[in-house]
Amino acid sequence: MLKLLIVDDEQSVRYSFRKLLTASYLVSEASDADKALEVFKSDKPDLVILDIEMPGKDGIEVLKVIKDISPKTPVIIITAYGTGDRVIKAMKFGAYEYIEKPFDVPRLMAVIEEALRGIKTNEPTLEGDQPAILFKPAIDSNAMVGESPAIKEVFKLIGRVAASDANILIVGESGTGKELVAGAIHRYSERSANPFIAINCAAIPEALLESELFGFEKGAFTGADRQKIGRFEQANTGTIFLDEIGDMSLSLQAKLLRVLQEGAVERLGSSKTIKVDVRIVAATNRNLESDIVSKSFREDLFYRLKVITISLPPLRMRKEDIPILVKHFLEKHSGSTRNNVLTINPDALTKLIDHAWPGNIRELENVIKRAIILAKGSTLGVEDLLDGQELPVTNPTTENARLFAYLNPRIMAQPGEIYTKAVGEFEKDLLIWALAETQWNQLQAAKLLGISRVMLHERVNKFNLTDGSR
Ligand SMILES: Nc1ncnc2c1ncn2[C@@H]1O[C@H](COP(=O)(O)OP(=O)(O)OP(=O)(O)O)[C@@H](O)[C@H]1O
Ligand SMILES: [Mg+2]
Repeated sequence: MLKLLIVDDEQSVRYSFRKLLTASYLVSEASDADKALEVFKSDKPDLVILDIEMPGKDGIEVLKVIKDISPKTPVIIITAYGTGDRVIKAMKFGAYEYIEKPFDVPRLMAVIEEALRGIKTNEPTLEGDQPAILFKPAIDSNAMVGESPAIKEVFKLIGRVAASDANILIVGESGTGKELVAGAIHRYSERSANPFIAINCAAIPEALLESELFGFEKGAFTGADRQKIGRFEQANTGTIFLDEIGDMSLSLQAKLLRVLQEGAVERLGSSKTIKVDVRIVAATNRNLESDIVSKSFREDLFYRLKVITISLPPLRMRKEDIPILVKHFLEKHSGSTRNNVLTINPDALTKLIDHAWPGNIRELENVIKRAIILAKGSTLGVEDLLDGQELPVTNPTTENARLFAYLNPRIMAQPGEIYTKAVGEFEKDLLIWALAETQWNQLQAAKLLGISRVMLHERVNKFNLTDGSR
């Protein structure tokens, strides 16, 4: 009988597993990380079911040690809550599968059987054992969030491919996160300490793109007054991200194909080949299959690039990600603006969920950024989401509060100059506010503030205010 080890700090979970599995397997249990490793070494189980959240050392640590001792033993991760970072790490460190609680029993049984049969179809195979390396936690603005099954599959795939050097093609509509995924592939890879060079093939004219990518020697063409190192050489030992690859001309595609085949580049004006060790990640929002049919994309290059394809689903197909994305963007952007908006009311959230998001996550992020600036309170409401309209001033009391909230973080004065600076800042903003309220009619602005027109005029000159000053 095959042996299974179940690691979970909750007794009830271990109990249900045991009940489920004892008929078919020899089951042993452990309730924490140290115990797990002890049992693993003595029992040598054929498969491990491992919880991540445990007091003391967590499951990822256990996974690393198990994979060091016995790289071939399948480890199935079970967890109550999977963040992108965790899923990626678990897969990168060699987890066989990542399953969330509460799990679907038939699926779990199928995964166990499949793992024990040692077959896993449709998945890239990674050569060699994966060394356990320590992670720098991803910086927040690079964090990928999402809870939908579709995005979780993307996280898993990133983790699985991170340790390999396979070329990756990322496809998806505009704003679905292709660039973010490319960065994550690099950060979670063994190349993370080496360069990550991104180049947007659509943004650079063709003639320049070639010399950008491959570099040139002095005198290679008129104007080449010195040598230039190309992006491929710069990316040596690291990753190059070829964004919008579908927009590359056919002649450049042919040159790129040669680089992929030979693992070497030639600078323009030189016949010397320079070996480069570069992992290629490419992205496109075009349908390359149909570009192949219309002969605007080379089929041979396509197959070289898409050793593994990561396909990012449009946001409208994974609306369950909207709430967590909104929360993420509120946290990401509130800090950088004067308004500390950290929540959203249910009506506003519903409105966001109902929207079709043709611009995908980028569009959602922009809507939130803009709403934070316009928000009157600390909670976003439907009125803050109105598109393309300035909010009318309806309530002077909230308006004043907003003005103060805006001013405070901007007053960066040393002790001894606070009064002057704060009052100066305040006065200036007050004037701008009053002028904006009155469409820059100085007479009305002076009336609104209760000062003379002469005084207003003098202040406007003092602060050098013009209509475009904001
Ligand atoms: N899963 C995610 N979690 C958090 N932020 C995300 C996620 N996906 C995308 N974003 C954010 O959305 C914005 C757009 O993403 P990105 O630039 O990677 O998209 P893209 O597919 O490259 O778009 P384009 O095709 O327009 O170049 C970025 O600010 C990115 O940080
Ligand atoms: Mg992009």
